[in-house]
Amino acid sequence: MRVKSFQIRPLTQGDKKWVASVLTENWGSEIIVARGKLHRADALPGFIAIQKEKPVGLIIYRIEAKDCEIVTLNSLEENKGIGSALIDAVKNAAVQVGCKKLRLVTTNDNTMALKFWQKRGFTLVTIYPGALEKSRLLKPEIPLIGIDGISIRDEIELELRL
Ligand SMILES: CC(C)(COP(=O)(O)OP(=O)(O)OC[C@H]1O[C@@H](n2cnc3c(N)ncnc32)[C@H](O)[C@@H]1OP(=O)(O)O)[C@@H](O)C(=O)NCCC(=O)NCCS
Repeated sequence: MRVKSFQIRPLTQGDKKWVASVLTENWGSEIIVARGKLHRADALPGFIAIQKEKPVGLIIYRIEAKDCEIVTLNSLEENKGIGSALIDAVKNAAVQVGCKKLRLVTTNDNTMALKFWQKRGFTLVTIYPGALEKSRLLKPEIPLIGIDGISIRDEIELELRL
């Protein structure tokens, strides 16, 4: 078994500036829209991965009445287990408050993420065709074209039973 070269800890107030920069760089702003709802991701709980005192990964989630949703996940050092470890941290947080499942929403262009989540036990539960039209009303900066030149059109909801 490989020795982990990073640590995972909950986000603190002191991480706010870094969190805002990761969100803006990767998702256009701190505002994340999914299923017609707008979230200020920088105001939500999360976990950070630290390697050699440098932040290298971020997961943000929200829990409302035992409904637990992963809002964003970013690994800045890929293929070292950071993404998986961040998911495990949210899984533990969700189980502790009695959530029975963990869900998330991704978009149709993110085929790599679909592979990643499914390999970690998440299953596709619903496709929302054309959902991005509504999302762009709340967040106009969502691009029309996404990963690999694919039009960003639909939302795909995945879930993991805990
Ligand atoms: C998706 C994402 C979070 C994955 O993060 P990551 O840190 O690379 O994830 P992991 O390292 O845990 O897993 C990636 C691969 O590395 C491999 N890996 C895990 N630990 C490893 C280790 N210690 N050494 C080498 N490889 C390892 C895993 O086998 C995995 O491969 P698999 O998916 O084929 O099983 C990252 O690619 C990312 O930030 N993408 C852009 C944002 C995004 O799309 N987020 C999801 C939005 S829905």
